[in-house]
Amino acid sequence: MDFYKIFLSAHKGIGYLVLLLVAIFLLSLLMCMFGYSGRISKLLRKSTLFTMIAFHTQVLVGIPLLLIFSPGFKVALDNGTLMSDAYNRHTFVEHPFSMLIAAVLLTIIYKYMKKHDTIAMKIVIMGVIAIALFAYAFPWMRVFGA
Ligand code: HEM
Repeated sequence: MDFYKIFLSAHKGIGYLVLLLVAIFLLSLLMCMFGYSGRISKLLRKSTLFTMIAFHTQVLVGIPLLLIFSPGFKVALDNGTLMSDAYNRHTFVEHPFSMLIAAVLLTIIYKYMKKHDTIAMKIVIMGVIAIALFAYAFPWMRVFGA
């Protein structure tokens, strides 16, 4: 059984779900931000929760994928091309770290939403940073490229 393939397929599959959830999260965040009252809607609460869960799942699948199964990561380490090669750096360093930071930010945002009824500017900024990190780190070319 090829665990690398299983983990990579699971990671990619959940990746599509994350894309959809992040889009819903972004829309509900914008709607709340430009809404008159600034009240945290049910949609925003739920989309934050599900996006956070999906990110945490990706972290759980991504860590063994990176540290145990990925042959590309081992080759890059052995050859010393982890940081000097742009593809390796993005796939094995920037992608995991940016997604990890985004997962932490989403967790902070969700914790805030559990305690408050209205949104605060700092939370909107954190949400925008989390989405920007996700958009930067998502391997668009690998998933949608030719
Ligand atoms: C929500 C967060 C994440 C999303 C949406 C995501 C999505 C993806 C996608 C779509 C791929 C390409 C899969 C393919 O081409 O078949 C990928 C590759 C990869 N991801 Fe993630 N990822 C996330 C978080 C993480 C985290 C936190 C880690 C590690 C700590 C990680 C480690 C990796 C590794 C190592 C690869 C490349 C594996 C290889 O080429 O051997 N990912 N990710």
